[in-house]
Amino acid sequence: MVDHVHSAPRPDFVSKPTLRGEKVLLRPVTVDDVSALMPMFRDAEASRLTGSHDDGRPDEARIRTWYDTRRDQEDRLDLAVVEQATGNVIGEAVLNDWDPGNESCNFRICLVPGTYGHGMGTEATRLIVGYGFEKLGLHHISLEVYSFNPRARRVYEKVGFVAEGVLRDALLWEGTRVDAAVMSFLAPEWFQHHGWPEPAGHTSV
Ligand SMILES: CC(C)(COP(=O)(O)OP(=O)(O)OC[C@H]1O[C@@H](n2cnc3c(N)ncnc32)[C@H](O)[C@@H]1OP(=O)(O)O)[C@@H](O)C(=O)NCCC(=O)NCCS
Repeated sequence: MVDHVHSAPRPDFVSKPTLRGEKVLLRPVTVDDVSALMPMFRDAEASRLTGSHDDGRPDEARIRTWYDTRRDQEDRLDLAVVEQATGNVIGEAVLNDWDPGNESCNFRICLVPGTYGHGMGTEATRLIVGYGFEKLGLHHISLEVYSFNPRARRVYEKVGFVAEGVLRDALLWEGTRVDAAVMSFLAPEWFQHHGWPEPAGHTSV
């Protein structure tokens, strides 16, 4: 029988950090960010890409309650993504589903429409994942990405997530079944390349 004597220190999810990159800054999301984030909830394409089955009429009161309580969460980290050049809130990046026994979390990110393709999602991912490994002491961060979302998959690969399997027909979207790739990132990988797994000389953000 295995004796589970290993007990890692509990990650400090209570202190909510501000993480500064070149293009974006990540800081605790609040209810005041809701109006900037609403386009994310109203956009049909964003709903498809994240597999959110809603009726296109998001409940703003419920959303406000959700964001009003993010600062108090002791087992997850919800950060707003702020574009440095404009100061605009352009999305959110989240570490959730913390599993203390296995020192793991899930990661998800969503930006508001109109902000894609400028390297901000890549930088935000690198910042929060790095915080997860270096400050929270996580060992394993995972995510799921649908097969019809090659842009997101590219971002995750660029930062160092590794595809480890496929959830077949994970989503039923408007009559079509869609696979999801499971991707994960391990702490030793982060400490090897710090979010830059591709060969030197690669110019991507
Ligand atoms: C996914 C998301 C966070 C990425 O952030 P972003 O700022 O748009 O992405 P970046 O500009 O940092 O990087 C995009 C990369 O994907 C590449 N890309 C774009 N479209 C692509 C496509 N159709 N196929 C393959 N790669 C693609 C870009 O070329 C770039 O890679 P490169 O730097 O090597 O050239 C953002 O687009 C988003 O929020 N989308 C809507 C919601 C969503 O999909 N969330 C993720 C759910 S799993």
